[in-house]
Amino acid sequence: MAPGIFPPDDFANLSEVGIDHRYRLLVDAVCDYAIFMLDRSGNVTSWNPGAKREKGYSADEIVGRHFSIFYTDEDTAAGKPTRLLAAAKARGRVEDEGWRVRKDGSRFWANVVITAIRDEQGALIGFAKITRDLTEKRRLDELERIAADAALVQQAQESEKKRIARELHDDLGQRISALKMSLALLEADVLEHVPKALHGHFGAFREVAGELDAMATSMRRIAADLRPPVLDDFGLEAALDWMAERFEKQYGVPARCEIEAGSLQFNELATISLYRVAQEALTNVARHARATQVEIILSRNGEDCNLRIHDDGVGFPGGWKLRPDAFGVRSMRERIAQLGGDLSIESVPGNGVTVAARVPLSRVTLQD
Ligand SMILES: Nc1ncnc2c1ncn2[C@@H]1O[C@H](COP(=O)(O)OP(=O)(O)O)[C@@H](O)[C@H]1O
Ligand SMILES: [Mg+2]
Repeated sequence: MAPGIFPPDDFANLSEVGIDHRYRLLVDAVCDYAIFMLDRSGNVTSWNPGAKREKGYSADEIVGRHFSIFYTDEDTAAGKPTRLLAAAKARGRVEDEGWRVRKDGSRFWANVVITAIRDEQGALIGFAKITRDLTEKRRLDELERIAADAALVQQAQESEKKRIARELHDDLGQRISALKMSLALLEADVLEHVPKALHGHFGAFREVAGELDAMATSMRRIAADLRPPVLDDFGLEAALDWMAERFEKQYGVPARCEIEAGSLQFNELATISLYRVAQEALTNVARHARATQVEIILSRNGEDCNLRIHDDGVGFPGGWKLRPDAFGVRSMRERIAQLGGDLSIESVPGNGVTVAARVPLSRVTLQD
């Protein structure tokens, strides 16, 4: 046994409660948990390597000090250490989770169990304390929660976009059509009562009709940006095709869409997520790439489904680093992560950017 870790003097009385040499060896071998003893008033009487590793104090530095040193100032001021000891004394055992402080002042999130130790007559000898550093677990839990929240927000946004698109299309679209029809009737009615020679003065009817057509086209474009009907009516493959066609028309850059995925039945989340990734990648091509050609490839490879968007543009600028406010790339990553996949975005100087998403087939197809 390393000297100083379990100081024999402080330990003398513990042999009375049956902690023998083998137990000491066991406790000394534990590095993942801080295991130490307190006397009745809460002063540290023993210290194991796990405690040194977790809290930063060596046995020499800490044995004899009151254990409240491990608590934050706020907790100490609120009497938490004393309260925990009193609870352990009353109930035999108490468990707590919260912030604790290391020797260097840094905090860690700990799970703590304090057990009262009594002799054969039932008199309190002291306390055994086991502390586990849960900082990493807490961080992972938090990340998981944040990811789950982000997924919920995204779902809410998608259903809201769908609702607005439908409303635009069904309500506003109908009204514009009805207005056009009334206008045509009104025009016919007016012109019937006006001499032919004066018809030229009523060109405004045609102008307003033209405006209404332009309005309907805008409205359809806005609705399609929010949620293209082809996605719901014909599925992801057709929507990617349509997206490429539309991109080519809008920006004059040839866009090729290749579907090599066979006839996969994509589930709702995969359909919208892969669609949005391609949409964001194409928006980036339009905004940043100065490309002369783009391709979208949806393929299947063993147990994976791959979506690749490649352009032949200028690529990332030299020394490129993802800006913290670059939400495009981030949202692509998030969407793919939600499907249990991963997304890479690479730039070959002089050969544009490739966005490549890989997702397990089991997560993107409809399960029967
Ligand atoms: N296809 C591309 N070609 C060149 N640069 C790109 C391309 N896609 C993304 N980038 C670079 O990556 C950055 C981050 O993209 P993104 O997260 O979508 O943010 P944003 O488009 O709002 O700038 C862009 O600002 C741009 O510098
Ligand atoms: Mg972008």
